[in-house]
Amino acid sequence: MSLARIAPLALVAGCCGEAKQPAQPVVVIEPLRHDVHSFAAPARVAVKHLVLSLDVDFAQKTLAGTARLELERRDPGAAEVLLDADGLTVSGVVACDSKQALPFTLSPPAPVLGEKLAITLGEAACVEVTYRTGPDASALLWVEPAGTSGKQHPMLFTQSQARNARSWIPLQDTPGVRFTYEATIRVPAGLRALMSAENPAAVGPDGAWHFTMPHPIPSYLMALAAGDFAFRPIGARTGVYAEPALVDKAAWEFAEVDQMMAAAEELYGPYRWGRYDVLVLPPSFPYGGMENPMLTFLTPTVITGDRALVSLIAHELAHSWSGNLVTNSTWSDVWLNEGFTTYVERRIMERVRGAEHVEVEWYLSTQDLARMLREGGHDGKDPDSVLAQDIPVTRDPEDVSGGYAYDKGAWLLRTLERAFGRERFDAFLKARFDRRAFQATDSRAFEAEATAQLYGTADRTGLPDLRAWLHDPGVPMPVPEPIPPRVQLIEDQARAFVTAGTAISPRDWSTLDWVIFLRALPADITLARLQSLDAAHRLTATTNPEIAMHWLPIMVRADGKEAVPAIEEFLTHVGRLRMVRRLYLEMLQRPAWRELALSIFERAAPLYHPVTRGAIADAVGP
Ligand code: BES
Ligand code: ZN
Repeated sequence: MSLARIAPLALVAGCCGEAKQPAQPVVVIEPLRHDVHSFAAPARVAVKHLVLSLDVDFAQKTLAGTARLELERRDPGAAEVLLDADGLTVSGVVACDSKQALPFTLSPPAPVLGEKLAITLGEAACVEVTYRTGPDASALLWVEPAGTSGKQHPMLFTQSQARNARSWIPLQDTPGVRFTYEATIRVPAGLRALMSAENPAAVGPDGAWHFTMPHPIPSYLMALAAGDFAFRPIGARTGVYAEPALVDKAAWEFAEVDQMMAAAEELYGPYRWGRYDVLVLPPSFPYGGMENPMLTFLTPTVITGDRALVSLIAHELAHSWSGNLVTNSTWSDVWLNEGFTTYVERRIMERVRGAEHVEVEWYLSTQDLARMLREGGHDGKDPDSVLAQDIPVTRDPEDVSGGYAYDKGAWLLRTLERAFGRERFDAFLKARFDRRAFQATDSRAFEAEATAQLYGTADRTGLPDLRAWLHDPGVPMPVPEPIPPRVQLIEDQARAFVTAGTAISPRDWSTLDWVIFLRALPADITLARLQSLDAAHRLTATTNPEIAMHWLPIMVRADGKEAVPAIEEFLTHVGRLRMVRRLYLEMLQRPAWRELALSIFERAAPLYHPVTRGAIADAVGP
């Protein structure tokens, strides 16, 4: 279904011509919005620098050690510093210099927020907390050797976004606070530690791994992994870490990363973080990618051998500007991170792969938006589709259906680009990245700067309604997007196959082409048709997880029981939330499949990261 059929026309694309007014400099000094999802009160005392020293204990499944927090007292009268914690056992707090014990209290846990760690400061401007992580730390996945590709060594990795850093470090866990950090990490001999920081080439003389992050970052970008990792350089400032058996394949798949960096720098100014490496994790990594600075964490499920899914790298790299450099000050404005990044990702891909390729991605994103709006109910006005959200304290920001932030956010920016012209819009974005570098911002500030610098005082007739885009539900998309030729070709084949059983010719199809084809199959396609497709193209047996994630739910819908072994295999190996959620949902809805879903989940849950485990448990219900 095209988006235009569900979202009424608001204006006509391409109508709006070029700049009406030269960009005006604007001085905006906004107080940051209060983040209800953190106990921190950074206007009084803020963390400026963190010195972390941790032992990684695979037997106990804990991190234990000290976090030393250097503070800035912004309110001279402030008597305490408020930190976030979640499940941490705090055994003591001392002033850094005098080593004198400081009084502290840890509140009982609150839902979503965790615990408030209040430390009485006295004269101290630096506190050292001795602690260990709890058994259910929401950021941590302890991977057994069986869950790795090498099967010999255990692995650990963190996922801190959105509010999970507090489960492994006591800190001010809000994206509005930035700090630099250093870390000393001890792991068992033979394993390597990696962080979102400058990574050393070798273990230190003291047997520990030492890290430095010289740029101020928000807490959700704190990241650590420990395991049997090898390294392959790609370019002079890029490379891949992965388990030894995967590292060459990964380096081949991601070889375009240097071109992506060059494209991003031409568009938005210098890459400010030094190196850009990626770390390929096991299939239990709960996301496609996570933009940990200097070291993106990645799912292996995008390594399909045809470089079809590497826009994921462009996305995580794009966060080096949108998100890591200019950051949403609360999760209510997550579109400022993800919508900007989705837009920047496609600008990068356009330069690297050409306009034709990227039009397919834009088109798929209108399909995604249409589907989200359809499934979100409220007559196309799903309240979650508001970009400038106000997520209440009772709601976990990670549970707010994230898709709108990505696709609606990106379409808002593309709509502005079309309205004001590329040259002018690019200058606006680049200036914004420069002016707000290493700072947090919010939707209100964006509205003000776009109004002042793009709209000016000129007549608004025919221009996008920025207020509606930001504050109203639904998507005021201008016109239906034309269907890209590649999509048309494949959808035509899908139609002929569905209606007449006409054989398809997928010899030159990439992973993305298969996705287009599978998405075009109607919900009521017969099992017999699917079986003939499977016989010809062996889809149930695919080792390509992106194809499997689209194919297997189709088989469930058609009650194709022969897919059960493949479904079991898939769900007990892949823990990427986006890949497993839809398959579980399809099964849970159907009485004949529900039991199977529950029994697979029972077996798979311990293999999943807490993020995936929690989301599927919610889908299962009480
Ligand atoms: N930062 C996100 C992942 C994330 C979002 C973690 C919200 C926790 C809460 C990352 O950059 C991302 O967007 N990943 C996507 C990639 C895709 C859109 C190209 C993913 O994991 O699927
Ligand atoms: Zn992202």
